[in-house]
Amino acid sequence: MRILFLVHSFNSLSQRLFVELRSRGHLVSVEFDINDATTIEAVDLFRPDLILAPFLKRAIPETIWRRHACFIVHPGVPGDRGPSSLDHAILEGERQWGVTVLQANGVMDGGDIWAHAAFPMRRASKSSIYRNELTEAAVSAVLQAVEAFALGKEAPAPRSQAGLAVRVRPLLRQRDRAIDWDKDDTDTVLRKIRAADGVPGVRDSLFGRELYLYDARPEFRLRGAPGEVVARCGPAICRATANGAVWIGHLCDRRGEHPFKLPATQVLAGELEGVPERRGYEEIRYVEEFGVGYLHFEFYNGAMSTRQCELLLQAYREARSRDTRVIVLMGGADFWSNGMHLNIIEAADSPADESWRNINAINDLAREIITTDSHLVVSALQGNAGAGGVFLARAADYVWAREGVILNPHYKDMGNLYGSEYWTYLLPRYAGHLSARQISQARLPMGTVEASSLGLVDAVFDSARSAFVQSTVVRAGMLAGADNYQRLLAEKNARRSADEAEKPLEAYREEELEKMRINFYGFDPSYHVARYNFVYKVPRSRTPLTIARHRAVADAEPARSVGA
Ligand code: COA
Repeated sequence: MRILFLVHSFNSLSQRLFVELRSRGHLVSVEFDINDATTIEAVDLFRPDLILAPFLKRAIPETIWRRHACFIVHPGVPGDRGPSSLDHAILEGERQWGVTVLQANGVMDGGDIWAHAAFPMRRASKSSIYRNELTEAAVSAVLQAVEAFALGKEAPAPRSQAGLAVRVRPLLRQRDRAIDWDKDDTDTVLRKIRAADGVPGVRDSLFGRELYLYDARPEFRLRGAPGEVVARCGPAICRATANGAVWIGHLCDRRGEHPFKLPATQVLAGELEGVPERRGYEEIRYVEEFGVGYLHFEFYNGAMSTRQCELLLQAYREARSRDTRVIVLMGGADFWSNGMHLNIIEAADSPADESWRNINAINDLAREIITTDSHLVVSALQGNAGAGGVFLARAADYVWAREGVILNPHYKDMGNLYGSEYWTYLLPRYAGHLSARQISQARLPMGTVEASSLGLVDAVFDSARSAFVQSTVVRAGMLAGADNYQRLLAEKNARRSADEAEKPLEAYREEELEKMRINFYGFDPSYHVARYNFVYKVPRSRTPLTIARHRAVADAEPARSVGA
């Protein structure tokens, strides 16, 4: 079928559905919800069999839903209505939640139900649940709904909402989310912050400043007067609640010089004098079991600053010094890595200098992984990876990915950034020259099936994150205990030596950095403009032609509509 996505932005769920539907042979095109006229034009150009709205903030224009079947992916159970569904579900401590695919009509979220899927709720942030449980449920419900729709008259009719217990819940406002530090216990504070993470955050007051709170974790030992900042650890501050304390990793000072999310200790740099350093918010964690070292790096949003890369390099070197046989780079639960930390770069006195430091710090880490001759190294992707993060993962000997993980192995959306992380060595080495070109030129999200066929990923298993982690442990243990372990290690070292003799790793780095220097310091400001737009979340005024296929074809053939 020809399926047109109408989206507020091409977010992770839209990317995943795009990949799933295309892999099933559907022709998928995407249009951003910019204004009604643009949407109507897109529909006229593409002539879709079906319109799908996986992530839309406004109603679809009546002229469209009256003439075309439009499916809305609603992040709530059947009968639930309103724009803050998942936020309410987290705040109210729902044990089960779900996704419903309904047909657009004149009542917001009130259309006939084509499919729905349920999932157990986890104590986690809204964005984490959205990227994991909700996304898996949405894929299952959308595929069911699309299959049913494709059957046409043969399909069972969608279920009307008449007779269903309907619950319309309003948009959550900051006053509904506000924390009362004197009264709210740790559990309540966590729920409030998690229900608003990543967007819009909880507005609060700290040291007399209005700040938005994100990235909360429980603290189990520290105590203090409610609301007091009692400790700091890495990027986070620890704040006492009515019965305990919570860590807050990130803050946004919307009225400040840098009105975007930054590490809490950076935003409060001038106010934390005398606040003691304590353990409790660790970003990097090392666990060892049966000859395998597991390095977890839980960096918020998968962004890796210079400091984080340096700390990870140090932790990696320590892991290498251990008497183990395999090192598994576990990344974080939601993201493996999204490359350089664009927010910290944007906030730096010289973004060009900070970009330079950051890319060099990632490169140092990538080089250490590539040149590891003492261990076999695995990257285990529980979550998505983007840009430099994908190539950093490929620096390991093996890349294992959870089914459903989405990779964005390109830098082009960041102002045609050339990229580094030794990608010019790694891509031809693992993917071959032909695929390397295909990967670096395409700007599309990639699923694990395609990533495997192109050599970016070596094994794909389990769609649930906990199952993936368990299987990773079993596989890594088997690798460490394999009869042919020594042979595998010797082969990889021989291959590395041969590659080094052919062209030193340093030469790849120098060539890449020469291009990056121009991106950072050259006449063309594209990278700086793209980074600014990304960090400040400047809305797009048109859909990129890479995903708006109807427009690409229309541009090439202005006289004829697609499908005409
Ligand atoms: N630096 C800082 N923040 C980043 C980031 C980065 N490299 N990559 C992602 N984020 C943040 C986003 O701003 C967003 O923040 P929010 O919590 O305020 O919403 C959050 O992570 C999730 O990202 P989002 O873009 O909404 O996720 P997605 O799944 O839709 O898209 C990517 C994933 C990787 C395609 C997209 O985030 C991206 O292009 N990131 C930039 C990658 C990059 O160019 N890195 C630098 C070159 S190495």
